[in-house]
Amino acid sequence: MNILLNGASGNMGREVIQAINSDSELKIVCGVDREKTEIGFPIYNDVSDIKENIDVIIDFSVPVATLNILKYAVEKKIPIVIATTGFSKGELEIIEDYSKQIPIFKSSNMSLDINLMVQLVQKIAKVLSDSDIEITETHHRRKIDSPSGTAILLADAINEVLDNRKEYNFERMQKRERRNENEIGFSSIRGGNIVGEHTVAFFSDNEKLEIKHTAYSRQVFAQGALEAAKFLVKQEPGLYDMKSIV
Ligand SMILES: NC(=O)c1ccc[n+]([C@@H]2O[C@H](COP(=O)([O-])OP(=O)(O)OC[C@H]3O[C@@H](n4cnc5c(N)ncnc54)[C@H](O)[C@@H]3O)[C@@H](O)[C@H]2O)c1
Repeated sequence: MNILLNGASGNMGREVIQAINSDSELKIVCGVDREKTEIGFPIYNDVSDIKENIDVIIDFSVPVATLNILKYAVEKKIPIVIATTGFSKGELEIIEDYSKQIPIFKSSNMSLDINLMVQLVQKIAKVLSDSDIEITETHHRRKIDSPSGTAILLADAINEVLDNRKEYNFERMQKRERRNENEIGFSSIRGGNIVGEHTVAFFSDNEKLEIKHTAYSRQVFAQGALEAAKFLVKQEPGLYDMKSIV
């Protein structure tokens, strides 16, 4: 299966290359990135230079680069796995719209365990629906978006089972007011080389229940993206996520 890797020169790009090297089914035939690195396959700055035949695109980049490659994918009718995070509401709507024309797999977290955590926090939220829910995430100093896409993924999953009555509070430090009972609060910590930590805490008056996930290696995300790519090439147009393969 021929793969185009968008964001090929980045940290996750390098992890995907390493994961594919030990996978006999998959081959990266080219990459797209604004930075060119010596890597063993051509990396293009401009999608109009792509000459290779591609079965599926894997994207770990930035939203503007994702939208660029997405237009190319739609034009050429190529399925795309989007792992990039930090999209605006408008960009998410564009992705959803394009999924009527090609298969798109989008997840802010490609780890299977995080997706198990999603199911667990949904179960807990249903039982502890009156608790104060807070999400804390820690990532390496280079991460651009906050809160992380995974923090929002976890909050959205909780909100889905609570009839969407929770509001998201991203700005507690900007306001001097007490906690609203219908909010999910977010805290982001940035430093060092932390791959990714997410904690969802449910506070009641006399108890606290926490579920925590720690990723020790970026390989979990690369491996998840490869599984998603293998799944996606067999699908009809539509928007898929980890629920489709977990
Ligand atoms: N879904 C997941 O499981 C998961 C896991 C880890 C990271 N991510 C996300 O993947 C993305 C990439 O993460 P990373 O750690 O590899 O970041 P990174 O900064 O190391 O890599 C991003 C790459 O995109 C390239 N790029 C930036 N702007 C571009 C443009 N306009 N056109 C073309 N290329 C451009 C950069 O040159 C760089 O090589 C982030 O959004 C991150 O949050 C998702």
